[in-house]
Amino acid sequence: MPETFDVIVIGAGPGGYVCAIRAAQLGLRVACVEKRETLGGTCLNIGCIPSKALLHSSEVFEETTHHLAEQGIIVGQVGLDLAKMQVRKGEVVSANVKGVEFLFKKNKVTWLKGEGRIVAPPGRADQETPGVVNVAGTDYAAKSIVIATGSESTPLRGVEVDEKRIVTSTGALELAEVPKSMVVIGGGVIGLELGSVWRRLGAEVTVVEFLDGILPGMDGEVRKQFERLLTKQGFKFRLKSKVTSAVADDTGVTLKVQPAAGGEAEELRADVVLLAIGRRPYVEALGLDAVGVALDERGRVKTDAHFATSIPGIYAIGDAITGAMLAHKAEDEGYALAEMLVGQKPHINYDAIPGVVYTWPEVAAVGATEEALKAAGVAYKVGKFPFTANGRARAMGATDGFVKILADKATDKVLGAHIIGPDAGTLIAEVALAIEFGASAEDVARTSHAHPSLNEAVKEAALAAWDKAVHI
Ligand code: FAD
Ligand code: NAI
Repeated sequence: MPETFDVIVIGAGPGGYVCAIRAAQLGLRVACVEKRETLGGTCLNIGCIPSKALLHSSEVFEETTHHLAEQGIIVGQVGLDLAKMQVRKGEVVSANVKGVEFLFKKNKVTWLKGEGRIVAPPGRADQETPGVVNVAGTDYAAKSIVIATGSESTPLRGVEVDEKRIVTSTGALELAEVPKSMVVIGGGVIGLELGSVWRRLGAEVTVVEFLDGILPGMDGEVRKQFERLLTKQGFKFRLKSKVTSAVADDTGVTLKVQPAAGGEAEELRADVVLLAIGRRPYVEALGLDAVGVALDERGRVKTDAHFATSIPGIYAIGDAITGAMLAHKAEDEGYALAEMLVGQKPHINYDAIPGVVYTWPEVAAVGATEEALKAAGVAYKVGKFPFTANGRARAMGATDGFVKILADKATDKVLGAHIIGPDAGTLIAEVALAIEFGASAEDVARTSHAHPSLNEAVKEAALAAWDKAVHI
C-alpha cells in the first residue's frame, strides 16, 4: 500500500507551498512534491527574490555613483564588485528558501523530493479511492491532488537560449560580468526590471518591443510617462519591432530586427540578449494527457471558479492556470483552495490584486484602467496628484510620477489606481484595501494620512476624484 495523504500538492512555489501549509494548518495530512533542490519555486529561487536583491543593489550603486553629491554627500571613488553582489543575492535566496523548509517542518508538511507524475486520479472505483502520484519511482496516494507546477519562459523561434549570451531571466540573474551592451526582447515586466539592473551597473540597454508601447495592459498615461523616464535614464526603445533571429558567437550576438508589420530587416549587435516575451504554463511530466486533465488553447490547466480541473479530485492554481502570473495571486489561490478542501467558502477578489514593476520609479496598479472602463462603458471620474506637489517626495528628491485614482461617477466607489513614483508598490496596498472593502474615493480622502508621507499623494488623488485636491 502506498503511503497515503489527504492532499498531495505538486510544486512548491508560492502557490503550492502556501496551499500545503494552509491545508496542514487546517488539520489535513499533506505532502508537497518538488523536483528542485530547494523549496520556493520560480519566485524564491529564480524570480521575485533574486531579481529584487539585484534591483536593490544596483539601485544603491546608481544612487551612490550619481545622486549623492546633489545632497552634499561626498564619497570617494565608487567601485563595483559584481561577484560579491551575486554572492549576497544568493544569500538572500538561500535565507528565503530555507525559511519555507522551516515552515514545512513546523506545519508537518512532508516534502517529497523529485518529479511528480499523476498516475491515477482520485475516486476511480468509488468516491473513496485515492489518487496516485509517482515521485522518483515511488507511489503515494491522496484524496486530492493539486497541480501547482508554475510556468517557464516562452521561447522565440530563431532565438536559441544558451543562458550565457542569449539568456532568459534565469541567465540574466547570473551574469558574471556587466555586458557593455544588452538587447532585451520584450518591453514587459522582466525586460524592464532586469534591463534596469544591468543598465544601472553600466550596460547600454536597447529594448525591442513588438507593440507600440511598453508594459501592455497597464494604464496608458503611466506607460507613456514611464517610457519617457526610462529613456531619460538611458534606455533605448525600438517599438513596433520584432526580432527574427539572434545568433551567438564568441564575442557577442547578432540580431535581425524587423518592423512588426514586416519590412526590411536590420542587424543589431549586443554582448548579451535577454529574451523576455512572456511566460507559459509548465505542466510537462505530470502525465495530464493520460489522466485526461483538460488544457485550454494556451496550454493552461482548465479550472472552474473553485480550482477544480476537468477530473474530480484534481485541482490547479497559480501560473499553471488562467490569470495574472504573479506570486501573490498564486499564494491567494493556494490559501483559498486549502480552505475549500475542508469545506470552507473563501473568495478571491481578482479586481483587487495589485501588480508592481520594481524599477525606479516603481509602477503599480490595481483594479480597472481608464481604457478598460471606457471599453465597458462605465462612467468614471479621475483624480490625479503629481509627486512634485508632495512634500516628502520633494525631500527625497524623487518627484517623478503621479497617483491616479479612478472612481465610479455615480457612486464614488474606487474602481482602480495607477501609480508611477517612489515606493509605488507599497502605496498601492492602500487602494487594494479600499477596493476590497468597497470604499469610496471620499472614504480614502477622509482617512487621516501621516504628514509628510508619500501616502498623502494617494489621499490627494482621492480628494481630486471625489471633489478637489488641496495641495495643487
Ligand atoms: P512556481 O513558482 O513556478 O513554482 C512551481 C514549482 O513546481 C517549481 O519549483 C517547479 O520546480 C515545480 N515543479 C514543476 N513541475 C513539477 C513536477 N512535475 N514535480 C515536482 N515539481 C515540479 N511575481 C510577483 O508577484 N512579483 C515579482 O516581483 C515577481 N518577479 C519575478 C521575476 C522573475 C525573473 C520571474 C521569472 C518571475 C517573477 N514573478 C513575480 C512571477 C512569480 O515568480 C510567479 O508568478 C510565481 O512564482 C508563480 O507561482 P507558482 O506557485 O504558480 O509556480
Ligand atoms: P510580459 O508579458 O510582462 O511582457 C512581454 C512583452 O514582450 C510584452 O510587452 C509583449 O508585447 C512583448 N513581446 C511578445 N512577443 C514579442 C516579440 N516576438 N518581439 C518583441 N516583443 C514581444 O512578460 P515577461 O516580462 O516575460 O514576464 C513574464 C511574467 O512574469 C509576467 O506575466 C509577470 O506577471 C511576471 N513577472 C512579474 C514581476 C513583478 O510582478 N514585478 C516581475 C517579473 C515577472
